Amino acid sequence: MFEILKALPADPILGLSAAFKADTNAKKIDLGVGVYKDEQGNTPVLKAVKQAELAYFNSESSKVYIGPPGAAGANTLLQNLIFGASHPAVTSTRVRTIQTPGGCGSLRVAAEFIKKANPPATIWVSDPTWANHIPLLGNAGLTIKTYPYYDATTRAVNFNAMMETLGTVGKGDLVLLHGCCHNPCGADLNREQWQAITELALKNGFTPFIDMAYQGFGEGLDEDAYGVRLMAEKVPELIVSSSCSKNFGLYRERAGGLSIVYQSAADADKGQSNLLSVVRGIYSMPPNHGSAIVETILASTELTNMWHDELAEMRNRIKALRALLNQKLIEKGAQQDFGFIEHQSGMFSFLGINKDQVQQLVQNYSIYLVDSSRINIAGISQANVDYLAESIVAVLKK
Ligand code: LMR
Repeated sequence: MFEILKALPADPILGLSAAFKADTNAKKIDLGVGVYKDEQGNTPVLKAVKQAELAYFNSESSKVYIGPPGAAGANTLLQNLIFGASHPAVTSTRVRTIQTPGGCGSLRVAAEFIKKANPPATIWVSDPTWANHIPLLGNAGLTIKTYPYYDATTRAVNFNAMMETLGTVGKGDLVLLHGCCHNPCGADLNREQWQAITELALKNGFTPFIDMAYQGFGEGLDEDAYGVRLMAEKVPELIVSSSCSKNFGLYRERAGGLSIVYQSAADADKGQSNLLSVVRGIYSMPPNHGSAIVETILASTELTNMWHDELAEMRNRIKALRALLNQKLIEKGAQQDFGFIEHQSGMFSFLGINKDQVQQLVQNYSIYLVDSSRINIAGISQANVDYLAESIVAVLKK
């Protein structure tokens, strides 16, 4: 039966890594997959993670099953990180957090859970959104529609158009929002905009669904959670998918969480039983290691402080690289204004060049980026930024 299957093209994001590896050009630059890199182009294991792993290795006494929700201690600490321990939704026990195989696992479980509660639900996603949102949510059988988000001309959120479309969304449907560090465009909602969407959700009855894959990469752990915490306080129901891939650098360990805010503690108990049955029916229970490391870090003041410092270092390096790229583009004679790169947030921005120009960067300059012109800012370094800026300017002049 398998002979009828047709070969598929490589994943638009992950496929870039293989092409980059195979390239022998010494000047090659990888701005593709969204992973943090240091000045040497490495993605090292964080020191706090290494220390937590050693401590955990010495204390782990069993490999017995962890169960569909994951470890209770890890879930509480993750919930506190996202919402804050004294958040009213947390203290009134209306939030349930489970451990998931990364942010992707969380999104897929959430989609299956929504399908269970309301099969005809539509999920509204931003245009553009992270490419993998569509299969992760759509393959669960939910309808996906888009709302306007990024304006390629102003290089900012087109909030009026966004609100106009969201004004048509009602009860039973969901609106997927990026908690911070929008992937792929880097243009985030400001506080007033979060407040306005919250008011609209209350008025029209749609359920917000927040993907928070980059907490701590924008302005800080608490600052980046502003939208999540506001909505959790105001709206009756909320879904939050979170990831520990970027902020703890645990990519391959697949550590993430799914938090659902319910209208009442009684609903939370009913909902949780359904959520766990979804998990049992897909992968039974999450992997342990990554979340155990997160738990070990968050349970220790010393390791938490160490992690905060390392997270701040990553965040500040990305901010500095944003300013550096803009400055180099000006120096190399770019005719258009790239100041937006400096003001956007998180790992990604669109260069705003067309597909043909992207292909020229890939083919002629060995600079790897997603077709949409999304670049991973963390792939820039002091050593490659001149070549990168020169190449972008050269491609724009053609
Ligand atoms: C990205 O957007 O590059 C990352 O989230 C990695 C991925 O899985 O696509």
